[in-house]
Amino acid sequence: MRQRIDVGGTHGYPLFLGVPLEELGPYLENRYGGKGHYLVITNPVIADLYSEKLLEGLKSFRVDLITVPDSEEEKSLDRISKLTEQALRCRADRDTMVLALGGGVIGDLSGFFASIYVRGIRYIHIPTTLLAQIDSSIGGKVAVNHSSGKNLLGSFYPPQAVWTDYTTLTTLPWEEIQNGLAETIKHAVVADPMLFDFIEDHTNDILNRDIKIMKELAMRSMAVKVKIVTDDEKEQGNRILLNLGHSFGHALETDEAYKGVSHGKGVSIGLVAVAILAYERNLVSEKQLERIVNLLTKLGLPTKIADRDPQILLQLMAADKKNKAGNKVLILPVGIGKASVANDCEDDEIVRAWKKIMN
Ligand code: NAD
Ligand code: GLY
Repeated sequence: MRQRIDVGGTHGYPLFLGVPLEELGPYLENRYGGKGHYLVITNPVIADLYSEKLLEGLKSFRVDLITVPDSEEEKSLDRISKLTEQALRCRADRDTMVLALGGGVIGDLSGFFASIYVRGIRYIHIPTTLLAQIDSSIGGKVAVNHSSGKNLLGSFYPPQAVWTDYTTLTTLPWEEIQNGLAETIKHAVVADPMLFDFIEDHTNDILNRDIKIMKELAMRSMAVKVKIVTDDEKEQGNRILLNLGHSFGHALETDEAYKGVSHGKGVSIGLVAVAILAYERNLVSEKQLERIVNLLTKLGLPTKIADRDPQILLQLMAADKKNKAGNKVLILPVGIGKASVANDCEDDEIVRAWKKIMN
């Protein structure tokens, strides 16, 4: 079933859901006219699977396709510089529109590129992973990583639209579905206890990738994100809560130079760390902590890491974007379905949480 949800805010945009890739071209023609230059940015894996379908609908336009190697490491300033050279060779100008075909890496990278190329050109997200469909394509955060910290260089730069073809999920490996599930569980813990119950009640259906359940899960998870980013586009208020688990997760990703733990798995581990911290502060009960850990475990998500120096991880948390005036700012769950901002966490407390999730 096709649906349209509008993300509000100063620069609102539509999410088109359940729409075939080949129909994006006719939509663009209808919306922006029959001429124009489109720059499709994707990676070789996704290009092999889906570029033909997408390009089929774009025949009447001038289109160039650029592929970026498939890796989180490519979310870098170096890649932005290479994209700039490639875009110039394609004669991309201020009227060009970027079409970001891929998961969160392609979306974040292409969106950031669009935000700065010739001082900003338009772009559309075409998310092909569960994580990108329910999270990263919504809300206009675009960024690249830096050796000192995850997503340190970026902008708030909303797309013109998000074009989501759920059939792309049929080719997505299970471990990539898991990365999306981690963000879905995060949405549930932050703002939707009924979504948490729903996931608990349907773990077997999710493990079997039951299409009806997966669509409902995606819709409910998107609804959480759409509401929060519509109310708070630029993270001046409640949007910060969506970073639950990310201070720990990002430190792990940075420590492994973006070649180790995936973003979703980092979030999974981070969720456990903040749930432990919150339990120690009596913000969550033992039962609620257990429910969070059990749900992640049942879905095959990691909840522990191999032994390593927690001081190094603590240091990496100092580069977190949420921090204020040198103080670490963490998001902690309050029960299941609510979260709060804590700017008084002591380093000892954080180190204890790291140690508790080490094998
Ligand atoms: P990803 O983009 O690396 O994609 C995961 C893998 O799946 C890749 O190997 C990709 O080639 C492959 N793939 C993509 N679509 C496929 C398909 N349909 N079929 C088969 N294979 C496919 O990873 P991700 O989990 O989508 O995104 C992670 C990134 O998203 C991180 O960099 C994270 O920081 C970012 N993120 C951003 C936001 C935001 O608000 N901007 C939110 C959450 C995460
Ligand atoms: N992924 C957190 C946010 O979009 O704000």
